[in-house]
Amino acid sequence: MSSEGGKPKRAKVPAGTTLFHAASWLGIAVDSSCGGHGTCRKCRVQVVSGAAAPSDADGAALREDALAAGWRLACRTPALGDVAFVVPPLRTRPKAALAGVGRRILVQPAVQKRYLELEPPSLEDQRADLDRLLDALDDVQPRVPLAVVRRLRGRARASDWRVTAVLCDDLLIDVEEGDTTARRFALAVDLGTTTVVATLLDLGTGQPVATASALNGQAPYGADVISRISALDDDRTALAALRRRVHETLAQLAGEVTAEGGVASREVYEVSVVGNVTMVELALGIDPTPLSRAPFPIAARRLPEARAADFGIPAHPQAPAILLPAPGAYVGSDTVAGALASGIALGAEPRLLIDIGTNTEIVVGSSRRLLACAAPAGPAFEGSHVTFGMRATDGAIEGVRIVGGEVRLDVIGGGTPAGLCGSGLIDAVAALLDAGVLDAHGRFVDVDGPLGERLTWHGAARAFSLHNHVLLTQLDVRQLQLAKASIAAGWSVLCADLGIEPAQLTSVILAGSFGTYVSTRSARRIGLVPPVPDDRIVFAGNAASEGAKIVLLSLPERAAGQAILAAFEYVELSTRPELDEVFLAQLDLDRRPRPLPDRTDTPAPHAGRPPFGPRRTAAPELPPKPPNRPSCPRIKGDPH
Ligand code: FES
Repeated sequence: MSSEGGKPKRAKVPAGTTLFHAASWLGIAVDSSCGGHGTCRKCRVQVVSGAAAPSDADGAALREDALAAGWRLACRTPALGDVAFVVPPLRTRPKAALAGVGRRILVQPAVQKRYLELEPPSLEDQRADLDRLLDALDDVQPRVPLAVVRRLRGRARASDWRVTAVLCDDLLIDVEEGDTTARRFALAVDLGTTTVVATLLDLGTGQPVATASALNGQAPYGADVISRISALDDDRTALAALRRRVHETLAQLAGEVTAEGGVASREVYEVSVVGNVTMVELALGIDPTPLSRAPFPIAARRLPEARAADFGIPAHPQAPAILLPAPGAYVGSDTVAGALASGIALGAEPRLLIDIGTNTEIVVGSSRRLLACAAPAGPAFEGSHVTFGMRATDGAIEGVRIVGGEVRLDVIGGGTPAGLCGSGLIDAVAALLDAGVLDAHGRFVDVDGPLGERLTWHGAARAFSLHNHVLLTQLDVRQLQLAKASIAAGWSVLCADLGIEPAQLTSVILAGSFGTYVSTRSARRIGLVPPVPDDRIVFAGNAASEGAKIVLLSLPERAAGQAILAAFEYVELSTRPELDEVFLAQLDLDRRPRPLPDRTDTPAPHAGRPPFGPRRTAAPELPPKPPNRPSCPRIKGDPH
């Protein structure tokens, strides 16, 4: 397909995908004010090959000569085989906004406002109030809820028939007195297990007005999704409590951003919510218990229409909640949002998206094919279950370099080191690997000089002193090895399924708050990411949150987000017979393949590997306890 005068683009889409969705998928904007519902008649495209018989909607919208020339409504025309078509330029040039991973999004929100000066009724014109309004909205035929008819009566008369119709996609959600077209807002929510982020958007400008984040109020029920689900086993009333808690978090955040932006909650006409499947199901009051047991069925890959009120979000009472689909139990709508924001499905070149977290989501592919899986990485990257681990806050060592035998630390806030966060852990291991203090199998090695003097013991575990009491222990290195092997096994399997070598990936997109701070070099050094040059590694920040914004800003992008589900192939790693072997190969910290040593403290594949599939955050596995070890500090050169 091509935009008129533009370069032809090609996409492979599932049979039955509409031309509207196919164009959106490739980032080609098609005129629309109904979001592909067949009511605005704006989405005209010219089919040049691959005959598409006119639909009834085409017949009603287009003249005979236009039909004969191949013109069709893109949203009513399915691609049933090879189809070539031309998309005419947009009649109005919408604003563009930068969003996602350096993407330029044309601002075409679903929320539209139309100021109307209606003729008052008379004996000569006794049309119904609603007909009077709908006749004035000549290019859309919206659905109308009863609540709007109820309000129309009084508001039309109180404003002398000068009203603003508020449309969300193909739904008339309100009629307001006077001209309110300058004010239309929406709220994008990334509903994370740990953190919830809300962004208020001005749909007129496409710009964010205010952003706020808070810890998910469900935290007392456990740090990970399996702990939250387990709460339901013990107490069936927990479902209501969990729902109430996350609603409170969402209401608090919505209140904060609207107050900061000077926006009334009823001016928020639409919300989008992305999150992992468990969080979304809990927020909607759906029992997520089956997600924790094989075969891990989800309630619905595409949830039915929901409203902001279903999430406890204070907004316009009719405000829809836009939900992206979820490919599988542990690859949710947040991953789809990340894929949308990163544009991974837009090009023909293979790319990799890794959203690092306790449950890490991995997507590999291009516009031709997308494969996705979940890898249980555990909490090491969040500084949890690391002996001196902490979250990335003031006092956390976030960077480690070794220069001429001297250890240099980057500490958040610049004060005295208090612990080690995820990026610091990766940096420390990479630096010690380079310095020869760790071998490729992650085992501490005796060395001479100032670095050797920092080798010590922490209880039964060998350790390296980064700063006085802040130690990196053998146990921590093992934790990191397990986490990175889990993730690397994930992208290795997906690349193999796609028939490519990891080094062929044209970009590696690291998403998630942790992914923003990790050093490219260190991540590659320990094999967390494939061996690609630095300039192919991209930090995407909170890609899920960006995706949630994009679906509010652009109807074509929303269509692409919905259509992308058909392209996702969810790979259940736990069923793959080669997984143990791949995982074992990835335990090494050096990306060059080496034979595995016959050592008792090298984690065995079954003993150490995190179970693929859902898991509760596991307690760290201890290496074998050496006899009569002194506690730290230890004299350099002790046998171990
Ligand atoms: Fe096709 Fe509106 S009629 S997008």
